[in-house]
Amino acid sequence: MNSSGRADTGALAELASAVAWEAGDLLASKHDQVRVVQTKSSPTDVVTEMDRAAEELIRDRILAARPDDVILGEEGGQTGADSQVRWIVDPLDGTVNYLYGLPEWAVSIAAEVSGTVVAGVVTAPLQRSTYIATLGGGAWLHSAWHSGPVQLRCNTDVELANALVATGFSYTAAQRAAQGTVVAQLLPRVRDIRRAGAAAIDLCSVAAGRLDAFYESGLHDWDLAAGGLIASEAGAKVGGMHGRPAGADMTIAANPALFAALHDFLASSGCEFASS
Ligand code: IPD
Ligand code: CA
Ligand code: CA
Repeated sequence: MNSSGRADTGALAELASAVAWEAGDLLASKHDQVRVVQTKSSPTDVVTEMDRAAEELIRDRILAARPDDVILGEEGGQTGADSQVRWIVDPLDGTVNYLYGLPEWAVSIAAEVSGTVVAGVVTAPLQRSTYIATLGGGAWLHSAWHSGPVQLRCNTDVELANALVATGFSYTAAQRAAQGTVVAQLLPRVRDIRRAGAAAIDLCSVAAGRLDAFYESGLHDWDLAAGGLIASEAGAKVGGMHGRPAGADMTIAANPALFAALHDFLASSGCEFASS
């Protein structure tokens, strides 16, 4: 592994996994002693001391192995400038679940080389599951429930009317109201709706076929970089509206036919006014 420039994708994925597991262990060891230390975009957008401690650990470990790399972390912003490799880190996706003792939370780490995400790891310690993908190398689940890694494939041949669709909501009240209008129109048109509270896990659930589709407006790079690669390596189309890439405007993930149906519904629903 080259400490200041490129690295091979496998080495980046291995580093991401090792670091995500260590951060996941740290979070799991303290999940019954959580304290809110700050709010961000709204009073419901909380940061715990564990979000910060996990990000600090992740930054320390990545920089110990690759001192010149750029790191974008939800809590610490972007640091470093002298590398083609950028790490995109959500140290704790599903903070509200973590705060309430619900198990749907994860550490999400992606490695990007020259602007393309090449490796992604999402580990959900209380679900004893880690999802790993490399660009062109498929998406894999390592879990306590299987003796070895299981290759993931998203569901195919699902009509929108039979689809189990997950979404999520922004922390700001005005955006939530708009998102609520869209989801109210979608609910009678699908099998059901889920709101699990961790976008990275939602994307992995599409990859694993536990959901048929996911959409959300207002996501940040750290919410979707690793999970987006995992979903697309499992055969899902991951993108935004009208051919744009997935991002803050909109992220949709589903098999290509279902993606198109959900996209067209969202385009007709006024969702484009629901993002930031
Ligand atoms: C949030 C979760 C949630 C999604 C929000 C995200 P956080 O991330 O992924 O499911 O609906 O948009 O901000 O704050 O728990 O890292
Ligand atoms: Ca997040
Ligand atoms: Ca977070």
